[in-house]
This record gives sequence, structure tokens and C-alpha cells, in this order.
Amino acid sequence: MEIEAQSAAPALFATQALVVLAPEQEGPWAPPLEALERATQGWLSKLKEAGEISGRWLESTLLHHPPGLKAERLLLLGCGKNPTGPFELRRLAGTAARLLKAKGVKQMALALPPEATQTKAATAAALPAAIAGAWAANFETGAYKSDRQPEKRIERLTLLVPATVPGAEIEPALNKGQAIAAAVERARELANQPANYLTPRRLGEEAEALARRYQLEFELLDEARARELRMGAFLSVAQGSAEPPRMIVLRYRGAAPSDPGKARRVLGLVGKGITFDTGGISIKPADGMEKMKYDMTGGATMLAVMQALAQLQPRLEVIAVIPAAENMPGSRAQKPGDVQIAMSGKSIEVLNTDAEGRLVLADGLSYARQLGATHLVDVATLTGAVAVALGAVYAGAFANQDEFYHEFEQAAAAAGEKVWRLPLDEEYRDQIRGSVGDLLNSGGRYGGAITAAEFLHAFAEDTPWIHLDIAGTAWWDEGKAWMPKGPTGIAVASLVELALRMAEA
Ligand code: BES
Ligand code: MN
Ligand code: ZN
Repeated sequence: MEIEAQSAAPALFATQALVVLAPEQEGPWAPPLEALERATQGWLSKLKEAGEISGRWLESTLLHHPPGLKAERLLLLGCGKNPTGPFELRRLAGTAARLLKAKGVKQMALALPPEATQTKAATAAALPAAIAGAWAANFETGAYKSDRQPEKRIERLTLLVPATVPGAEIEPALNKGQAIAAAVERARELANQPANYLTPRRLGEEAEALARRYQLEFELLDEARARELRMGAFLSVAQGSAEPPRMIVLRYRGAAPSDPGKARRVLGLVGKGITFDTGGISIKPADGMEKMKYDMTGGATMLAVMQALAQLQPRLEVIAVIPAAENMPGSRAQKPGDVQIAMSGKSIEVLNTDAEGRLVLADGLSYARQLGATHLVDVATLTGAVAVALGAVYAGAFANQDEFYHEFEQAAAAAGEKVWRLPLDEEYRDQIRGSVGDLLNSGGRYGGAITAAEFLHAFAEDTPWIHLDIAGTAWWDEGKAWMPKGPTGIAVASLVELALRMAEA
């Protein structure tokens, strides 16, 4: 999708479709609606009197050839009573794009409300949010359909910003938005790939191609190398499959921080890369098992984040570690009751081979620390329990340090993504304390998302660490007005935003 910003007046802008947000409020028309009301000689008031533009959230009214406007169509999109921040802009831009693309429209111009660009920080969040929303609406899951029609898609998005916004604020916001939106698309494409195509080896090749394209450092640990490094937890998951595992490492070394007195932080990003999760010997029921092809979404997320960072070049060092393996019940598969020694030296009694994500992440976290990460974020489709707790709306978040978490929380808000912090607590650790070994890989049904997080905590130790459990949010079984069903790309935007902020801090 082509992206541009213009400071033209919406009424005078020629496009296939002009999108203007209509808030739910009484009183005189505010800009930019006020200018449209004048240009159309009172159309808006007539529509309002007829009850057709109440401003209700996502209410849409599409008008053809509105008199007095240069646009071929005017889409009035209700934006409700709340101010339009990044959360809202993402959803509004997505809704408009989906609605218009279904009608064969290829260009849309979105008039941003003045409050969205009132400060530099607001502009830096609003433009990327609108771009991410519109871009995400273009995604289609039917990549393998033989009768694929030439796609209906939005090819050009113009953001109409008030003339008062300085160009120096617009350019970087556009670049950021573009890099993030393309990265989100990348993550969704990978998550959508079937497991017979996207094996651990292929994921490694994807990472290698990315590294080559953007001059990132690249390291690929095969099974033998992982064994030398004593990654017993990681390897135990892979041993039941004929597909060899890969521990994938990408490293981005940005320029030194602008303030040389600042302590240098190295961000370690660890993503669960289970390319298919059958459950292993503790096998999953057949119903719905096909969805476990997206159990590598955490890994795809980190690959996508690295792509965006390589484009945006923040002053920060970032290491992505993606433990990739297939969890299968082959004849060499690990069995319930087996004990594995993780890279850190901790022993794990594997009660349930379906709790494999935490096993591969344990060694991934240890390796990221060994490579020099001072701050860690892991992303994983880790537990069904987090989906029970938060559904498909909020991603579950855990952190062992408030300061780092607050930094992340603000980044997620600016990126327009919903995350909800759940507790870590010493008392939950009792549920995963082993009698044969140090740890149990399953803490039972109750508090399942938390005991999984406490398991990872034992490997992050005291390095500032955030864990995102995206099992409920990585994939939508049903579409919404602003995005179709399928992979969502959750967490990519928040993590890029976090890295950019860490580079500035
Ligand atoms: N990959 C699953 C979690 C999952 C469930 C992701 C649904 C996406 C949608 C994970 O490996 C798993 O199987 N977790 C178990 C853990 C249990 C055995 C302790 C679960 O949540 O049931
Ligand atoms: Mn599993
Ligand atoms: Zn899994």
C-alpha cells in the first residue's frame, strides 16, 4: 500500500473516497466537518436531522458525488464519544478500508481529527495507528486458493493532516507507520502458513533471508550445536519429530546512544517458534488441532519486529532469539515423567508434553541472556488459560520489574494494542515446584497462565523481563469490522514502539 500525507483541505481533495470521522456530540460542527458542511451547503445537518449520522461508534454512511466536494465518495464514520486516540484510529481506519475495499475502491483519504495531531507525541502515534489499521484491513488468508481473484485492495492511503502540523513531525511518523504496518503483515503471513510449509528449517531460512536483506547479524544453531550448548529443554520438545529444530538468532546493532553517559541497554526478544503443536505424547484432541500451525506466532512476531527495526535504525542493540521446533509424538518423543536439564542447569520434570512452549522458551531466555541481553521480552502463544481469562481482546502480560513494565505499557498504548497485566507471585511457584527435579512443566488447571509465566520467570531470573501470552489474541476465529478473521499480528507494533522508546531514553 502506498502511503502519503497531505495538508490539503478535505473538501478540496480529489480522491476515490474521502473518510471523515463523525463524533457523537451535540452543538455546532467541529473541524474538519465544519468545512464539509459549508462546502456541501448544509448536507451534514440534513443527514443529522434525518438521524443518519449520529456519530455512533463505527456507524457508516457512504455518499456518492457529494456536491461541493472534489472526492468521488464521502464516507462518514462514527467515532463515538471518546477522543480518538491510537486504539480508536486503528479500528476506524481499518473499518473504513474494509468497507471501501469491498466496494472496489482503491484510494482512500482519511481526514485526521485535529486533536490527533495536536502535539508531536500525538502525531507520532496517530499516523502509525491509522496506517496500521488501514494496512491490516488489506490482508487476505486465502494465499493458497487456486482461483484467487485479482484482489480488491486499497492501494493508496492519504492522511489529511491540518496544515499547522510541521512537516518535520509528519515524515518520521509516516516512516514508522509504514515499517510497522509492513512488519505486522509479515508476522501475519508467517502465522498463516501451514506447518508442512513452514517448518523450523524454513523459519530459519526466512530469518536468514531477512538478515541478508537488511544486514542483520545472523546465527543458526542446529541440533548438534544446541546439544553442545546443553539446551536440554529446547531439544526435548524437538526429539519426537523428524523435522530438525533450529535456534534462530538475529542481532541488530544500532548506533551508540546519543547520550554516551547513558547505560547501554540491550533488548532481547524471545519468540516461541513451535511450527506445529500436536501436544506430543500428551496429544491434543483432533478438533481444532489444525490451528496449532500458528503456535510459532511469537517467533514470527520477533522476526517482524527485527525487520521494522532494521528499516527504522534506532540507536539500540536488539537480539532476537527464536527457538523453533515441531512438537510431535514420534517414537523418540519425550514422555510424561521424563526429566530434562535446561541450559541454565535447572532440571525439569515434564508432566505434560503439551506444555512445550515454556520448555523451548526456557533455553531461549537463557541464551538471550548469555548473548548479552540486559532486558528481555518474550512473546508466546503459551496457554489456553490466558484465552479463558482475557478472551481474544487483551493479551496477557507479566513482568518482574515495574519500571520496565511501565515503559512497555506506554508503548503498547501508543501503538493502539490492548495488554492487561496479570500477577507474578511467589505463592504460585509452589504449583510448579518439583519433587524429582527443580521444576514441573505444568502447574495444573488453576492459574494456568500465571504458573506458565512463573516457570519462565525461573529462567529470566532477575533480568528485567516482560512475558506476553498471546494465545487468545494471535488468531481471531471471527472477523471484526476493522480486521478479518485469522492471524492478527498482535504485539509487533508495541514491541517496535518499545524499542524506539528505549533508543530515545
Ligand atoms: N500452544 C498451546 C497453547 C494454545 C492454546 C495456543 C490455544 C493457542 C490456542 C500450548 O503449548 C499448550 O498446549 N498449553 C497447554 C498447557 C498445559 C498442558 C499446562 C494448555 O494451555 O492447555
Ligand atoms: Mn502445547
Ligand atoms: Zn504450544
